[in-house]
Amino acid sequence: MPIPIKTPAELETMRRSCVLAADVLVMIAPHVKVGVTTHELDQICHDFIVENKAIPSCLNYKGYPKSICTSVNHVVCHGIPDNYRLREGDIVNVDVTTYLEGFHGDNSKTYLVGKTSRAAREIVAAAEEAMWAGIRAVKAGGNFGDIGYAVQTFVESKGFSVVREYGGHGIGRVFHEDPHVMHFGRKGTGPKLLPGMVFTVEPMVNQGKREVILLDDDWTVETEDGKLSAQFEHTIAVHEDKVEILTFPSSYTGSRFI
Ligand code: MF3
Ligand code: CO
Ligand code: CO
Repeated sequence: MPIPIKTPAELETMRRSCVLAADVLVMIAPHVKVGVTTHELDQICHDFIVENKAIPSCLNYKGYPKSICTSVNHVVCHGIPDNYRLREGDIVNVDVTTYLEGFHGDNSKTYLVGKTSRAAREIVAAAEEAMWAGIRAVKAGGNFGDIGYAVQTFVESKGFSVVREYGGHGIGRVFHEDPHVMHFGRKGTGPKLLPGMVFTVEPMVNQGKREVILLDDDWTVETEDGKLSAQFEHTIAVHEDKVEILTFPSSYTGSRFI
């Protein structure tokens, strides 16, 4: 399938869905505390999304049972909210996708719970910086491989590793559409980056080895070596001469373009 190009009108609607997804991450931040269950976080996010006239894209997506993903410590992605109570020192990625006015908006962030170890803070900081390194590599006329190269180079320079089995994705009227955005690779390879393309950059960065395992629930992905993994995600749009971060919250007053 060709990579969809969004019209200015479609982009305008996508902005609203993406800002709502970002607002969920701001809203949930004060709830991500020692003692809260990931199920409670899911309920709070679900209610907020529905109150804002949207639908949580994850709920029932390919049979996924909850409204958000909560991936704690060595869980890489797609952690299913349950009765686990967050503990002092945990890291937890909250991944929120909203469906509003016919379009999806997708973002995630890894939160620190209480007092964390330096090692935990370092992997979280590296994951966030890796996402930005990928976003900064986006330029109309360039290639998707430029993103993967930038992420991989940064992550490996820190002595961490990048997960290869999962990546970013085009997004719009469809939650996961073409292309698949790899967080590793070579400059100048892959499809061309063109104005009107909208996709996510969401590297999963492992403290140890890059290998992952899929649990029997068919969703939860964990590091094979049991070490930490962290992730950040934005939905972005390519313009002729700039890149727009669609998933900044409504409270954000800085520039949405880089
Ligand atoms: N939001 C995730 C992503 O970044 C996908 C979650 S799919 C789900 O692509 F079904 F697990 F929710
Ligand atoms: Co996501
Ligand atoms: Co995504």
